[in-house]
Amino acid sequence: MKHTITLIPGDGIGPEIIAATVRVIEATGVDIEWQTHILGAQAQEKYGTTLPESTIDSIKQNKVALKGPQMTPIGKGFTSVNVGLRKALDLYANVRPIKALPNVPCRYPSLDLVVIRENTEGLYVGLEHTVVPGVVESIKVITEKASTRIAKYAFEYAVANGRKKVTAVHKANIMKLSDGLFLECFYKIAKDFPEIEADDKIIDNCCMQLVMRPEQFDVLVLENLYGDIVSDLCAGLIGGLGLAPGANIGEQGAVFEAVHGSAPDIAGQGIANPTAILMSALLMLRHLGEHAAADRAEKAMLVVFADGKTLTKDLGGTAKTDDFANAIIDKLKAGEAAIA
Ligand code: NAI
Repeated sequence: MKHTITLIPGDGIGPEIIAATVRVIEATGVDIEWQTHILGAQAQEKYGTTLPESTIDSIKQNKVALKGPQMTPIGKGFTSVNVGLRKALDLYANVRPIKALPNVPCRYPSLDLVVIRENTEGLYVGLEHTVVPGVVESIKVITEKASTRIAKYAFEYAVANGRKKVTAVHKANIMKLSDGLFLECFYKIAKDFPEIEADDKIIDNCCMQLVMRPEQFDVLVLENLYGDIVSDLCAGLIGGLGLAPGANIGEQGAVFEAVHGSAPDIAGQGIANPTAILMSALLMLRHLGEHAAADRAEKAMLVVFADGKTLTKDLGGTAKTDDFANAIIDKLKAGEAAIA
């Protein structure tokens, strides 16, 4: 079956890691037509808007996109196109699997957990204003609808993926109303899933526990800002941002992207690690029902990691982005027997 997928190379290291990933995905033999689109600063220059309708329409039509990181200016300039895209398509669940890879020096080589972040509200609604000079308000919006929807998604994900426990992460001791509502919705939904253990942790304690005893966690469900921060923390536990994939899921479509950003400090040098975006693309293949191709590409990637000869600079190696992709493609071409 042929799949049509919207491809957004993104900024900074985006085009480099996306090109490497497309080559690996094509080497699996899955029939894909890529429709390339742009967002952010590139789109501002070409179309006069950072979120062009042509890009949104393409994702709505294809229902699936693979997206590179987009730069967001700090403290001024345009608002985040990542947040804008998630809002425009109502991509309410951000799923970030955290699993250590062979041969990657990290704190917890056997770590295997999933961060599920509510993607549409919280402090990311962009409602900020100056009350009087020197006083700024930033409004956090928590709704029963979105909190219930993300809790339900987290439990359904746990059931579908053989997970045992879902932990809600919050600060309901201080934000009694907003985080209190999030937690209340979580426990209401938990009653419908008696086979899955449900518990909760206050965000600060959760961060400490993640650093000291992360094996106690299985699936974490968090509102937007906590999910953003905790998923980077978790990426650090398994060896860094170059290794953490992600998926933004909604009723209208799914956008697959790495947890990391555009890494301007290493852009243009061909040294970025494409693992996170490649693993996001493997999540995408599974979402499309192409499980065999995803398994083969994953096995090939794991063999390259286990060999340890072609790792990128962030993992202590000397390989370039393309060397790493070529090594995986070689394993794929060598066939199932060579990578079993
Ligand atoms: P970043 O994730 O781009 O980089 C943080 C550090 O990790 C840097 O030292 C970078 O070199 C390294 N790193 C990140 N990805 C890597 C990879 N694949 N291989 C090797 N090293 C890697 O975070 P930063 O610097 O805070 O943000 C840069 C830009 O990215 C900002 O404009 C930010 O708004 C944007 N951003 C976009 C995201 C998205 O499109 N989903 C997510 C996070 C940030």
